[in-house]
Amino acid sequence: MSIDVLVVGSVNEDIVVSVERLPGPGETLLASELTILCGGKGANQAVAAARGGVRVALVGAVGDDDAGGRQGAALDGAGVDTRWLRRLTGVPTGTAFIQVDSRGENTIVVVQGANAHVALPVGDVEPQVVVTQNEIPPAAQQEAVALAARTGARLVINAAPAPESPPPWYGAADPLVVNEHEAAQLATSDEAGAGLLRQLRERTGARSVVMTLGERGALVDDGTEVHAIPPVVVEQVVDATGAGDTFVGVLAARLARGNDVVAAASAANRCAAKAVTWPG
Ligand code: RIB
Repeated sequence: MSIDVLVVGSVNEDIVVSVERLPGPGETLLASELTILCGGKGANQAVAAARGGVRVALVGAVGDDDAGGRQGAALDGAGVDTRWLRRLTGVPTGTAFIQVDSRGENTIVVVQGANAHVALPVGDVEPQVVVTQNEIPPAAQQEAVALAARTGARLVINAAPAPESPPPWYGAADPLVVNEHEAAQLATSDEAGAGLLRQLRERTGARSVVMTLGERGALVDDGTEVHAIPPVVVEQVVDATGAGDTFVGVLAARLARGNDVVAAASAANRCAAKAVTWPG
C-alpha cells in the first residue's frame, strides 16, 4: 500500500474535564464532566488527513497498557495505517490532561510516556508529504526531516508545543505551521501580522510559513507574498482542542492532492472551524 501522508508524531489518551472557567494558580474547581478521548497531536493530524481522503500512516509509539490498545484501535478505525505504531513494553501510553472552559478555550499538560521513544526508520515508503511536531524527541523529528529529504516528500512541520528557539531543521519546512502563541515564542520582536510571518520565515529559514489565527482565519507566507485566509463564522465554539491539528492534517492532505499552500490552508481553515463546534 502506498502512502500519501506520513505523520511522525505523538499519540495520547486525552483526559478531558469540562469547567465553567479555567482555574488560576492554587485554585480548586469542580468540573461538570470527565471524558476520555483519543488524542495526541500526531494522531489527531493523521486522522484529519485521513478524513481528507488520502492514504495516511502514523509513525509513533504507545505503551502495552489499555490506553495503548484503545488508541491503536481508534486509529485503525479512522483508516490510519498503523504498521509503524509501536507498542512498547513497560512504558505508559502518553496522556494529556485537558481542561476545557465554557467558551471552548483549553489548557493542556502532556505526560510524554511512550512518545519519548518514537523512532524511525520506517520500511520502504515514498510519501508525498511528511508531517511532524514537537511532542516527540528531536531525534525522531530530525529522522522525519531526513526521510522527507531522501524521498523528495514535502515537509510540514507544526511547531507545537512551541520550542524555546527554532531548531535548525525548521529550515526544511514547507510550510512551518504555528498558532499565534507559538509564533510569539519563536519571534525575536513583538511584530504582528505579515511582518511576523516574514520574520519567522527569515529566522527559521522555512520555505513557507502558515500562522493560524483562530476565529480570525489564517495568514500564509508562501515564500513570495503574504496571503490572508478569511475567517469562517462559527455559531458556537464548543471545544477548540485539536483545531490546530485538524488544520495541519487537512493542509497535509490537500498538499498531497496537489493544492498549493494557499488553497490547502484555505481548506484547512474551513475544517478547523468545523472542528471547534463539537467536543474533543
Ligand atoms: O492539540 C491537541 C492535542 O494536544 C490533544 O489531543 C493532546 O493529546 C495534546 O497532544
